[in-house]
Amino acid sequence: MDELERSGRFDHLFSESARATGGWSAYETWRSATAANPDAVSLGVGFPFPDSFPNDELLSAAERAFDGDGDRTLQYGGGEDAALLPEFVAERARTHGIDCDTSQVELTDGATRAIDAVSHAFLDPDETLFTEAPTFPGTLAVFRNYGVEIVGCPLDRDGLDVDALERELRARRNDDRPLPTLFYTIPTFQNPTGTTLSLERRRRLLELAAEYDFVVLEDDAYGDLRYDGEDVPPLAALDEEGRVVHVGTVSKTVAPGVRIGWVIADEEIVAQVNRTNVGASNTLAQSAVGRYFADGYYEQNVRELREAYEKRRDRMLASLDEHLGSAARWVKPEGGFFVWVELSEEIDVDVDTDELLSRAAAEGVIYMPGPTFFPAADGEGGGERFLRLSFSHGSLEEIDRGVEALARTVRTVSSPS
Ligand SMILES: Cc1ncc(COP(=O)(O)O)c(C=O)c1O
Repeated sequence: MDELERSGRFDHLFSESARATGGWSAYETWRSATAANPDAVSLGVGFPFPDSFPNDELLSAAERAFDGDGDRTLQYGGGEDAALLPEFVAERARTHGIDCDTSQVELTDGATRAIDAVSHAFLDPDETLFTEAPTFPGTLAVFRNYGVEIVGCPLDRDGLDVDALERELRARRNDDRPLPTLFYTIPTFQNPTGTTLSLERRRRLLELAAEYDFVVLEDDAYGDLRYDGEDVPPLAALDEEGRVVHVGTVSKTVAPGVRIGWVIADEEIVAQVNRTNVGASNTLAQSAVGRYFADGYYEQNVRELREAYEKRRDRMLASLDEHLGSAARWVKPEGGFFVWVELSEEIDVDVDTDELLSRAAAEGVIYMPGPTFFPAADGEGGGERFLRLSFSHGSLEEIDRGVEALARTVRTVSSPS
């Protein structure tokens, strides 16, 4: 059977929602540019740098989990080391001001799975979900699986524009249009903009959630990775109504491969999420990471990561200043992995970062084009003058080389003055 005959054979059996979902198609431009020049410096993906992984500590933690309680470690439900993890998750959340205990923690196989389980608990097809726009495409892919209307709300330098959100909510209520069930937000070191929602706006968002009766899904993937500035409490720490569902992960602070994430929420919500999080608990990984936490490695690793990422961020910002100058604008992120770059008026008005990417790949750098981060599945939703750079993965030398290649690319499309 050739390729053509093979494709579409099961269409009539696939679910309607599976056929409608875009999955990871938002990354298509990035994928083809990467394939076109595999040697280009990758400033596109938000991967941790390889040396950041605590291989020895994780290996020793896993060995100790096997030595101590091997049979139960490999059994359904896991052993005593896996059982340690919810308490560490709750304890860390308390250090960020979230008043919680283990009855409010549901472990999942990473933050994405946590968001999937929460979506399953709250979203019916054709309901409405609000999110920041731009936002993390991985979670947009999850939301698309649920067949919901996804409405993007704009951000500025201080994160989500809560006034714009309020206007949209009010207009919908006045016109009898659907109001959101969930609001998905990455308030701290947002992906892709790097912005952090101010305290005042956090409070306002929670007031709006109460007034318009929706749940706030707070994705705190980067919360432990602050390099400067003052800590701002997570939304879950400010929540007095139990309306915030807080999601965390060790993907950025230990390793994505261990696939450990969690939900922290009101007990009633956690019970519902537990029902939708069916069979999704890798207890072997939980044992290794539980022991890793118990041995005190986490805090130490995070301290080292903060130093390493701060250097990378500073190098990227210095390199952008030196090589791009007035051809682009960006906001200094106080933490996380990303710099969100806007092409300035000096650049030809017709330039679109999706189209520019193949030229950048040929010059030797891959970035993530702005349209990737907007809810419209066809990529026609905005962000054409933006691109995301990640300083998390490359070495300092690669960051310099990548930014120089980006500057060369941008110069080829500068408007003649
Ligand atoms: C905001 C945000 N949430 C979640 C994730 C993924 O988390 P996990 O690897 O735990 O699924 C990422 C990874 O890029 C992210 O940027």
